[in-house]
Amino acid sequence: MIRIKTETELEKMRVSNRMTAEVLAAVAGRVAPGITTGELDRFAGEMIRDMGGTPAFLGYGGYPASICVSINEQVVHGIPGRRVISSGDVVSIDVGVKYDGFIGDCATTVLVDVDDREIIRLAAVTRAALAAGIDKAVVGGRLSDISHAVEKTVTAAGFSVVRDFVGHGIGRDMHEEPQVPNFGRPGRGPKLAHGMTIAIEPMVNQGGCEVEVMPDGWTVLTRDRRPSVHFEHTIAVLKTGPEILTCVKKKI
Ligand code: MF3
Ligand code: CO
Repeated sequence: MIRIKTETELEKMRVSNRMTAEVLAAVAGRVAPGITTGELDRFAGEMIRDMGGTPAFLGYGGYPASICVSINEQVVHGIPGRRVISSGDVVSIDVGVKYDGFIGDCATTVLVDVDDREIIRLAAVTRAALAAGIDKAVVGGRLSDISHAVEKTVTAAGFSVVRDFVGHGIGRDMHEEPQVPNFGRPGRGPKLAHGMTIAIEPMVNQGGCEVEVMPDGWTVLTRDRRPSVHFEHTIAVLKTGPEILTCVKKKI
């Protein structure tokens, strides 16, 4: 069952998601050669608690950290630790915050002194795919319109979407119905209605779409070990159009 949010609940989603976006921006701003992924995680955990929130990922299904940091061939769910960020790294940061009963979720990818033109294009295309998906999150449309828009943007650019992991409904729980795949034919699935809140999160590989999970049980890798990029926004489907909830600035 898809949980439709009331106006009060939407307001709470705005708060937790804005907090999440602020943490993500602060962590992304600290990504630089020499910092460890564990330091980024500690910084995020402290910032979340200072705001009065709790890290939504910590303990989720046994996940051991506050954020995910996924580097180069790592697609998502990289566990922070002793690894030192280097020049040339493709660093995906994923943050979740719970505040006042509602969860925010967003991710971005930072290119650390990357000058490989194809990787820069990969990141630009993934960002554009997320934007294309958000554009289809309109009342009266169908869920798979979002999926199709993401996939079309990616395949037209010659890259591939990960199929084994998907976006999701979000609210009181991090993963609510519906699942939001980054591929599929348009015009399928549930009708989009005012008050739905969903996380759209394209994971895009430079090479093939196949992925595997590392022995740590979390880290997802591309099978061909070529780089992958991930962007995520939590949005609300509203009569007035999609609202990006994981925004640092208020819409004017
Ligand atoms: N954005 C990711 C997701 O929606 C983050 C979850 S990490 C986990 O699945 F560890 F909490 F699972
Ligand atoms: Co998510």
